[in-house]
Amino acid sequence: QKDGYRFFMEKEIYEQSSVIADTLLGRVTEKEVIFEELDSQLFDGINEIKLCACGTSYHAALTASYMFERYSKVKTSVEIASEFRYREPIMTADTLFVVISQSGETADTLETLKMAKNAGLKTLVICNVDNSSMVRLADATILTRAGVEKGVASTKAFATQVTVFWMLSLYLAQLKQSLMQESIEKQLELLRSIPACVKVEESMHERIKRLSKRYLHGHGFFFIGRDIFFPLALEGALKLKEISYLHAEGYPSGEMKHGPIALADPELFTIALLPEHLLYEKSRSNVEELSARDSTICAISPIEFDKADDFIETKNQKDYMLEFFEMMVAVQLLSLEISVRLGNDVDMPRNLAKSVTVE
Ligand code: F6R
Repeated sequence: QKDGYRFFMEKEIYEQSSVIADTLLGRVTEKEVIFEELDSQLFDGINEIKLCACGTSYHAALTASYMFERYSKVKTSVEIASEFRYREPIMTADTLFVVISQSGETADTLETLKMAKNAGLKTLVICNVDNSSMVRLADATILTRAGVEKGVASTKAFATQVTVFWMLSLYLAQLKQSLMQESIEKQLELLRSIPACVKVEESMHERIKRLSKRYLHGHGFFFIGRDIFFPLALEGALKLKEISYLHAEGYPSGEMKHGPIALADPELFTIALLPEHLLYEKSRSNVEELSARDSTICAISPIEFDKADDFIETKNQKDYMLEFFEMMVAVQLLSLEISVRLGNDVDMPRNLAKSVTVE
């Protein structure tokens, strides 16, 4: 069933290209994004979007917030479901409440959906499991088409969630006419090239296998990035924590100087996301500060970085969104290979369950 892969997680990383292609199928033409499952009236009178989720799905929601504001020009906020439930939030009828869940069964997320419904808000769920509790409850559903995800550490579900959010942000841009048709068409072309850009290159995988040996001990990891690469940094750190049991944090690159840089020494590993097309110089100077304080640096970038101890070279993509997807694969593989070297059961990490139905 693992089709020759060592772990389901590895198989699922390799499957991302095809499940993203499935998720795009019939929804992206040369001219527009189409969601047959959506009634555009869902967005009538909506001035704000609130996204709510847990774990990896929460990280996908964070990336969505950048896209909804940048492309659709809709005010967006993001909530951790287990926090939102208990803090007496203000909910107004001009807000579309969106929950994101691979399983559609996560107890905390499901409860927030009920809260939003009770408050009279319109609701949408982005989910991977048809007929799950959330799908049955929400006003509208977009399915992610990632197929069954067996690895406890989510990979392909996250990839398809971000893909759906990118499409949805353009769908909204069409409705609200917040982007010129020419820009939309450019974005659609980029969307169609995600499957090619997440295909795992054997040379990259081999390189990550080799360099992973440097990162087995030490006192912790910082994954750092700016803009949407910050949620990707959070996701990279979560993946590593889950399957390697090493301490890792995701941080916005610009925040390091406000405290965390005090931890820098050779035993502190920095995984730096350095895309070419988004704040490259600013991000690079943050990494230089860490390097000057002797942190061990692994740079993930298409541009060679002489201050890095290790360098995972990505391709020169046309746009930062495609760089996002390529770097996503790199951080997933890095976590996988560190965990394999440590001899852990990648698919069944200790203390974790695939579906969290406890509160
Ligand atoms: C991490 C992971 C979890 C889930 C979280 C929410 O790899 O899988 O953090 O993302 O438990 O689960 P869903 O998306 O099913 O609501």
